Amino acid sequence: MNSITLHDKTFEVFIPETEISAIVHSMVNAINNSGIKNPLFIAVMNGAFLFAADVMRKITITNTEISFIKLSSYSGTETTGMVNQLIGISNDISGRNIIILEDIIDTGITLEKIISLLKKENVADIKVATLLFKPEAYTKDIPIDYIGKSIANDFVVGYGLDYDEIGRNLPHIYKLKD
Ligand code: IMP
Ligand code: MG
Repeated sequence: MNSITLHDKTFEVFIPETEISAIVHSMVNAINNSGIKNPLFIAVMNGAFLFAADVMRKITITNTEISFIKLSSYSGTETTGMVNQLIGISNDISGRNIIILEDIIDTGITLEKIISLLKKENVADIKVATLLFKPEAYTKDIPIDYIGKSIANDFVVGYGLDYDEIGRNLPHIYKLKD
C-alpha cells in the first residue's frame, strides 16, 4: 500500500526504507572517517529517535556518547516560529565535541536555539547532522555539516517524523499528497 491516511490527510511514499538506510549508512561513514574524538551526540527528540538509534549502532568511534534534548516548534503542519525547550542537558558538556542529530531542518529556528543553548555550556565544537533538510525554507546561516537528503518544502512523516504526533512508527518517509 503506497498511500496512508493520518488524521485528515493522505500521504504517499517518498523515501523508502531501503533508501533511508543507504542515506544513514553514508552519513555515518562520513562521521566515522571525520577524525572526531570522543563525540557526544545530542539527538533532538522526539523526531530524531529512530535516526539516532540507527546512527549509533553504526558508529565505530571509541568513547562515543549520546544524550537527548527535547524541543518543540510545530503545531500541525505549520511552524509556530516559537521554540520551547522541554528537556535540556543536565550533565557537564563543557569541552565536548558535539554532533547534533536532527530528523529534519526546516526554518532552522530549532537548530539556532539548540546551538545557542550549547554555546552557553562552553562546548569545544559543534557539528550538525540532519537526515533531511529543506533548503528553500532555511532562514539561518548556520552551516550544516552532514545532510542526508535535501528535499522540497513538502510536509513529510514517518521514520520518527510526525503529523500531530502520529506516523512516527512508519518505516518509510511519506509526503503529503497534493
Ligand atoms: P525548524 O525549527 O523550522 O527548522 O523545524 C524543525 C523541527 O520541525 C523538526 O525537528 C521537526 O520536528 C519539525 N518539522 C519540520 N518539518 C517537518 C515535516 O515536514 N514533517 C514533520 N515535522 C517537521
Ligand atoms: Mg523535531
